[in-house]
Amino acid sequence: MKKIVAGVIGLLPLPLTLITVANKENVSNVFTASWVGVLCPDPLYIGVGIDAKSYSHELIEDNSEFTVNVIQEEFLRDADHIGQLSGRDVDKFEESRITPQPAKEVKAPIILEAAISIECKVQEVLRLGTHDFYVGRALATHVDESVWDGEKINVEVLRPVMYAADSYWSIGRKLGRVGYVVPET
Ligand SMILES: Cc1cc2nc3c(=O)[nH]c(=O)nc-3n(C[C@H](O)[C@H](O)[C@H](O)COP(=O)(O)O)c2cc1C
Repeated sequence: MKKIVAGVIGLLPLPLTLITVANKENVSNVFTASWVGVLCPDPLYIGVGIDAKSYSHELIEDNSEFTVNVIQEEFLRDADHIGQLSGRDVDKFEESRITPQPAKEVKAPIILEAAISIECKVQEVLRLGTHDFYVGRALATHVDESVWDGEKINVEVLRPVMYAADSYWSIGRKLGRVGYVVPET
């Protein structure tokens, strides 16, 4: 029997990402984010929920751009740490092994250590509650050659981190390719 449970995030797992933002004066910041998702594959739109009290919220309100960076297991410790700190108090790039790099289309930096970085321009903002939801149109997607097989991302090499139920998880084994139930003709 199912029971109604209040205050639980029942949609899981979620991706663990690092989001960067920068204001018009090029002051940048990075934060850990899991309230992130693909809203449309073509053209690519990505949405992110940002805490209205955070420093990142202040910066993105000034300059409507962000980058989403997919981190690998190797940088989980940094992502966890960055998720506990505020850019109001410390420079999180200095406090971690995460290095900002100029992006191509936006002021917010991409992250050197991330295997995938997506530059986005905000098109809509939904004022929802504790978090505002920013709908970003992807302007450029950077993929490290080491995780690119020429057609798609090699998930086994990438080893992305997931967030679920207050913990971090690695991705499990592959169960089948999309369309595997349809006999090949
Ligand atoms: C696993 C994890 C996921 C998080 N996801 C989000 C998120 O999607 N949106 C958000 O605003 N904060 C999220 N946070 C919290 C921010 O990373 C944290 O509040 C951050 O330190 C804010 O920094 P700032 O004040 O420099 O913007 C998450 C933290 C962790 C550890």
